Amino acid sequence: MSIKFDVPGQLKRIAQVFTPESSIKAKEFFIGRKSIINDCLSIIDRPGAHIAIYGNRGVGKTSLATVLEPLYTEHTQLPIYFKSCDSVDSFESLWLKIFEDIVLHPKYEDSDENDTQSEPFMTEEVYKHFGVNEVLNVLKSIGSEAIIILDEFDRLESAFDMKLFSDTIKSLSDKLPNVTLIIVGVGENIVDLVGEHPSIERNLIQVPLLEMENPELRLIITNGLEMLTMNMEPHVIDKIVRFSCGYPYFTHLLALHACRSAVLRGRMEVLDNPDFHYAVSAAIRQSLESLRKAYSLATGSNRESIYEEVLWAVALADCDEQYTFQPKDLLIPLAKILKKPEVKYYSFIGHLTAFCSEDRGRILEKTKSKKRVRYKLRDPRMRAFILLKYQEYVKKNQAPTYGQLDIFGNP
Ligand SMILES: Nc1ncnc2c1ncn2[C@@H]1O[C@H](COP(=O)(O)OP(=O)(O)O)[C@@H](O)[C@H]1O
Ligand SMILES: [Mg+2]
Repeated sequence: MSIKFDVPGQLKRIAQVFTPESSIKAKEFFIGRKSIINDCLSIIDRPGAHIAIYGNRGVGKTSLATVLEPLYTEHTQLPIYFKSCDSVDSFESLWLKIFEDIVLHPKYEDSDENDTQSEPFMTEEVYKHFGVNEVLNVLKSIGSEAIIILDEFDRLESAFDMKLFSDTIKSLSDKLPNVTLIIVGVGENIVDLVGEHPSIERNLIQVPLLEMENPELRLIITNGLEMLTMNMEPHVIDKIVRFSCGYPYFTHLLALHACRSAVLRGRMEVLDNPDFHYAVSAAIRQSLESLRKAYSLATGSNRESIYEEVLWAVALADCDEQYTFQPKDLLIPLAKILKKPEVKYYSFIGHLTAFCSEDRGRILEKTKSKKRVRYKLRDPRMRAFILLKYQEYVKKNQAPTYGQLDIFGNP
């Protein structure tokens, strides 16, 4: 087949559109999340209110926080500062990073971008040790209005004085109500992020960020294809969406490799065979190291075993809304995977217990609801990775497909 387009150029464009390793930086690449954005914008307008955005790894927190910046700038003239937290940061070092940004990139009225001689906000002495009042003084000196976004807040460790930080939030709400802090980090709830601080409960408004909806994931693909002037077979789009399990990371990863496969074969149309299959293998190889390690630790064995099969059944099991399942939910998928008419509990209960143990990397954890034991994958992104591994096995061994298993419905 003769290639009628610039292959290297198109590969480069694909890498700019589907970006599994990088959060979204520009509005035109950011999909969905409309109601959350509106919530955040309305909270920012409320005097004394601050925001805590929390959710699982890879769900899209940094992307959301990043696009809030240009979106908010359209509505207001308030200066916005964005900083990422580090595990070694203390209360002082974190605020110093923010203050350095304020000095280097003044965004407030009356600031003179060329004036490098401007007075420092703080004297050397104060730089060494400061508390709530010093923070308030610096923020007053830039007009008492600002939005400060602190990403990766969960990375802060014992060097960081969370009590002092919560006192700062309280004082900001009382004394500088037009300064809004937006803290962003991994967590299942607000306590995971800032600990127990009842005094700031009223001021710090919780914005949980859940997995993306399937129509939003679909839009990531179709929007990207449009930018690349490429097409994709509709059921390949369906599959990428289903395999993503709500995680845009996997949508970008699979779409990237499927499009690359097509272009490398001289096509602008992405096909199921071979492009989707190529994408599955490439996505497994290039997935996050943490997921690949966790999978092999959980399933490794010197003897013949069904650890891998039980883990596939876990990923295929019918979960509740919190992504938890009971052992009975594995009966059908496991029987189909093992090509047996039925399986007994005793043949896999021990495997579930082992998956909760340190030896197998605690890939699962137990949760109790209404006195029943339920299980869930500790890292929710793992589900997508396990499904990709199963898909690869299906392809190599002509095992039952998802359609035959009828877990996701027919492709
Ligand atoms: N709203 C979105 N639209 C398109 N892609 C997104 C969106 N949110 C996240 N992504 C993509 O998902 C992946 C993870 O996003 P990121 O913001 O880094 O997540 P988190 O900060 O929660 O770990 C990245 O590849 C990013 O490009
Ligand atoms: Mg992030």
